[in-house]
Amino acid sequence: VRVFVPRDAAARSVGADEVAERIAAAAATAGRTVEVVRTGSRGMLWLEPLVEVETPAGRVGYGPVAPEEVDGLVAAGLLDATPEGLGLVEDLPWMRRQQRLTFARVGVVDPLSADDFEAHGGYAGLRAALAMEPAAVVEEVVSSGLRGRGGAGFPTGIKWRTVLGATADIKFVCCNADEGDSGTFADRMLIEGDPFTLIEGMTIAAHAVGATEGYVYLRSEYPEAVETLSAAIEIARARGWLGERILGSELTFDLHVRVGAGAYICGEETSMLESLEGKRGMVRAKPPIPALEGLFGRPTVVNNVLSLATVPTILAGGAAAYAAYGMGRSLGTNVFQLGGNIARGGIVETAFGITLGELVEDLGGGAASGRPVRAVQVGGPLGAYVPTTQFDLPMDYESFAAAGAMVGHGGIVVFDDTVDMSSMARFAFSFCAEESCGKCTPCRVGAVRGVETIDRIRAGEDRSKNLVLLDDLCELMTDGSLCAMGGLTPLPVRSALRHFGEDFGVPATTTT
Ligand code: NAI
Ligand code: SF4
Repeated sequence: VRVFVPRDAAARSVGADEVAERIAAAAATAGRTVEVVRTGSRGMLWLEPLVEVETPAGRVGYGPVAPEEVDGLVAAGLLDATPEGLGLVEDLPWMRRQQRLTFARVGVVDPLSADDFEAHGGYAGLRAALAMEPAAVVEEVVSSGLRGRGGAGFPTGIKWRTVLGATADIKFVCCNADEGDSGTFADRMLIEGDPFTLIEGMTIAAHAVGATEGYVYLRSEYPEAVETLSAAIEIARARGWLGERILGSELTFDLHVRVGAGAYICGEETSMLESLEGKRGMVRAKPPIPALEGLFGRPTVVNNVLSLATVPTILAGGAAAYAAYGMGRSLGTNVFQLGGNIARGGIVETAFGITLGELVEDLGGGAASGRPVRAVQVGGPLGAYVPTTQFDLPMDYESFAAAGAMVGHGGIVVFDDTVDMSSMARFAFSFCAEESCGKCTPCRVGAVRGVETIDRIRAGEDRSKNLVLLDDLCELMTDGSLCAMGGLTPLPVRSALRHFGEDFGVPATTTT
């Protein structure tokens, strides 16, 4: 019998390793032959460690399973899936509400089994791509509507078109896996749960634009992901999935992992390129865009993990099938991440268009504290705070922008009614002051002045004068900063003031 236990860092942090060991030991004691398969996580983090037992009808789930419960569960018939547990995992309401395309294999396969990967449709996308001319692959990605999942939402195919059109001695594909936004963990879970998909996506990108070398810039805070991806690359090389004549084609492409040193700004693409070149992570002015002058000055595709990991499914199923999901100009699915003060936190991959309220209340179950939700921050520390009165907003880049917010990387952090929004606004500035690369004045100095100004407002000192000053400062940072770090910091500040003015001692300017 096969039993599945996640090896994802989130599951391991709550005892998955010990649970796996105890299942193997209990099975041996009972004289049963059991294969314990370590998978990624399904993303239902409140159920971790989630144990799944294979049955003819599907996998039956048990969770959360504490290590000390294992012996009792095995004695009760866990290996025969006789205790009912949670029932079939695929039938859980949380799973049924999703459309898993990018995350189709995460939590299902052994992340380091190339056979498992292929048995579950792996490399169908690359095989399809290799049968096409590079320009046709690019156009397929353009017509799928895929937009950059790192946060900015720039059309991936258009970026690739620019790189394909550039002439150079060498071109690169760089994957940005410096997932620094608070409340985001989808990149990590994809890499830990299905690393070959990222390798496949990067290889498709290489074929599409004519690149021969790739780098994954992975944050040092993700040691399990570094380990898994490095092992997967070795396996891929041994299998002929990287190197020369990939899958028997003319394509040559190899891939390397580079580990960051903990700076948030190295998630900004030009800082990341500086860091990859061995320099201090400082933002470069754009233009030139990396698509034309990127790594070592060469044309470079820089994409987020999820953008690249979505490309195989687009090539395998066709652009039209992917574009059939979503709404407006936000096509396909997105991997939303629920975190903060939330009853059921984790990963939800669903078509764009689901509302914020459905994600937070229906899937997430509201605040973990049981108190009313007051605000959610969407899109990381540079994202806006959204009040519950806007819970009918569809998850769609344009709808969020029109509401003065952003979808970003899809992280949603929940706060209950005990939150003090003026302290959250202060945090936005102090975070910026901490993480600023220091290259431009609006951000380097503005962030520090912002903390001071908010402190004065919170203390009730010359409140109206300081509010005008704060507004001025926000405008200057938005318009004058060189990159999104300084440019977006005013977003959480202004949204907190706009929707929760009472926390600053001023009436809210809007209630919607
Ligand atoms: P951007 O709008 O300047 O650029 C988006 C992408 O499009 C870049 O890769 C850029 O090089 C490319 N691009 C622009 N014009 C192009 C053209 N004509 N041809 C080819 N490529 C072109 O945005 P930026 O500064 O790269 O990202 C800002 C976003 O990053 C924010 O909105 C935020 O959501 C997100 N972010 C994500 C974090 C995370 O952990 N995932 C952390 C911090 C911010
Ligand atoms: Fe550096 Fe901040 Fe300027 Fe960005 S906005 S270049 S992080 S100083």
